[in-house]
Amino acid sequence: MATSTNLPEPMESLDELATHAPGRIAEAATVAELEEIEAKTVGKQSPIAAARRSLGSIDDPDARRAEGLRINEIAMALTADLDNRRRLLAGAEEDAALQADAVDVTLPGRLPERGSLHLIQQTMDEIVDIFVGLGYTVATGPEAETEFYNFTALNIPATHPSRMESDTLYLDYGTEEEEVLLRTHTSPMQARYMEQHEPPVYVVVPGRAFRADAVDATHLPVFHQIEGLAVDENITFGDLKGTLADFAKRFFGPDTKVKFIPHYFPFTEPSAEMHAYTNGEWLELLGCGMVNPAVFEQVGYDPSAVTGFAFGVGAERMAMVRHGINNIRALADADVRILEQYR
Ligand code: DAH
Repeated sequence: MATSTNLPEPMESLDELATHAPGRIAEAATVAELEEIEAKTVGKQSPIAAARRSLGSIDDPDARRAEGLRINEIAMALTADLDNRRRLLAGAEEDAALQADAVDVTLPGRLPERGSLHLIQQTMDEIVDIFVGLGYTVATGPEAETEFYNFTALNIPATHPSRMESDTLYLDYGTEEEEVLLRTHTSPMQARYMEQHEPPVYVVVPGRAFRADAVDATHLPVFHQIEGLAVDENITFGDLKGTLADFAKRFFGPDTKVKFIPHYFPFTEPSAEMHAYTNGEWLELLGCGMVNPAVFEQVGYDPSAVTGFAFGVGAERMAMVRHGINNIRALADADVRILEQYR
């Protein structure tokens, strides 16, 4: 541009600014970028400020006034450009922020993780419920039991191999006659319950039992049983069969067939194992029998006045048969991927 030679140098960079600044303002992409341009355009270090400072060095008053007007015009035009651009950018940035923050109220909520009872507990509850439906009451007993209730009261002879330390977990207290052990079955509650209650008795006892067994596909040292005991006048083996067959049908389905195989337990006479036909095969489910009169005598019942039957069901066994689980360890591993299939 042909500027008169007597104008100071800041005036020349002002021309430059007037030519290029509007384009740079229009290209600013963010408010922050615009603010940088603003400082260089109209700020204290800008050519406009420098031009104003140099006005005093123009001697001719008319030329000075003309330059002053020109500086103001340029400054006002650029300030207007900056304000317009700022409004545009700030609006767009606010829109983007709102968009990013937006909550979609139509999305379904996140449900909390739902826990569930372990399959063993479910199985025990279900078995207990079946008998409660038949009029039985529920009792529980101590897991640390005396040798007397676990064996002697149940007519298990002092020489019986199950009393050996290789089978039974003895606890380190108690005297020789009152040795304390972890109960090997829930049957001791038969004796404890009858000592505390007069007949008739209809009771189920869910609980844990313990044996010195190594873990394999069918054994755990800690497992669960449901003991059952019915004592009344004239209870027969027919009552036992009817009750337990009904139980099997309720647990496995109405078409379930059962059979009773003679067996031996010291506390029942006669004794049997009940097998059920499920999933195409016969499987042993539980031990049972008519209460041995020797047990009635132990607890102070008159064996000529009452008869009864008893049974012991393994909860793990029932769950495994029902679900086709062939390794008992699946029930003891704390693996949610397995357990959550059974809730
Ligand atoms: N207590 C036995 C066991 O753990 C199971 C059992 C068998 C319980 C026969 C009974 C019964 O009540 O009558 O192997």
